[in-house]
Amino acid sequence: MRAHDAAASGPGTSLLVTNIGELVTNDPRLGDHSPLGVLTDAALVAVDGRVAWVGRAAEAPAADQRIDAAGRAAIPGFVDSHTHLVFAGDRAAEFAARMAGEPYTGGGIRTTVAATRAASDDVLRASVGRLRREALRQGTTTIEIKSGYGLNVADEQRCLRLAAEATAETTFLGAHVVPAEYADRPDDYVALVGGPMMAAVAAYAKWVDVFCERGAFDVEQSRAVLTAGVRAGLLPRVHANQLTAGGGVRLAVEVGAASADHCTHLSGADIDALAGSSTVATLLPGAEFSTRSPYPPARRLLDAGATVALASDCNPGSSFTSSMPFCVALAVREMRMTPAEALWAATAGGARALRRDDVGHLGVGARADVALLDAPSYLHLAYRPGVPLIESVVHDGVLS
Ligand code: NIG
Ligand code: FE
Repeated sequence: MRAHDAAASGPGTSLLVTNIGELVTNDPRLGDHSPLGVLTDAALVAVDGRVAWVGRAAEAPAADQRIDAAGRAAIPGFVDSHTHLVFAGDRAAEFAARMAGEPYTGGGIRTTVAATRAASDDVLRASVGRLRREALRQGTTTIEIKSGYGLNVADEQRCLRLAAEATAETTFLGAHVVPAEYADRPDDYVALVGGPMMAAVAAYAKWVDVFCERGAFDVEQSRAVLTAGVRAGLLPRVHANQLTAGGGVRLAVEVGAASADHCTHLSGADIDALAGSSTVATLLPGAEFSTRSPYPPARRLLDAGATVALASDCNPGSSFTSSMPFCVALAVREMRMTPAEALWAATAGGARALRRDDVGHLGVGARADVALLDAPSYLHLAYRPGVPLIESVVHDGVLS
């Protein structure tokens, strides 16, 4: 899709996207007043990267540049609040073995750690850039990126420095697994993560995360890492209840984490804890797809009143997809979320999980991040799975 210039671009330049058949704003004050705030025959004006006006196309003000959506649907850009993009190598053989019956244990993380440590900055930077562009082409305009494949001070710092070149939403996951060299003294590794490693990475990270799971870090070790992170000025989030119904979710709620991620194996008490808190349940159905695991109980979470986000978990082991439309389709088909719930979770839900109010919606003042679909309705995201429906993307008010 082309933007037609009516004037030179520069500061103050305005962009009009008009003739939008169906515009999802996620602003319930607009349009049909549902949570998606759907307007029909709509238009949107962006000025300096922010939404300056939304409404009926017939009433739209003039702008310097104009995009004719030709009746297509437009949605807020996806907010992918959980990825592990900084890594080298792939684990396709591990995936094939799983599809032949091997279980997923997280043991392959160490394979990626070895490949990542051996890779140069340039190789890692090129890989992050390629995956970031791949995600953008599929409508992801905000992305969180974790470390977690360095697992020593220098490599965790390096991975976060490279992540920070690609996004403001960086997460320190030094507590991903205990690296081989600390296998017989895991508490020393926890002390390293919470001490010298935390000090070395704090300037590059916004969030601190921990894989709270049997075979990774127990609740006590996880609490120590998260507490050290908070002391260093980072905000907590947790990989919780992915493989077993352990204490990760309740720890996330206890420390006031922005998000408990995975939530695959939940007790009734876990669901109540999430529903009674501001901790978002971030569901990652790409991981269940790629590890042939049961999907998380999205319906029970939603019906209990928990806030649900969807994210890709893009990583070379458990979920090598950067596609938020794929995650939406899985959530609808496999987790019984309605198409509206799934789209909200992949946009506004992701923004909640990152404690952001400037993304994930298209109300006036929001960042002008818009995905135009080659379809008349957002319903097609789940109705036409696997089809490249993202026709074009406006990111920060610029057509990319
Ligand atoms: O979120 N669970 C821990 N970490 C990743 C998987 C990492 C890997 O297998 O390389 C996840 O699924
Ligand atoms: Fe993850």
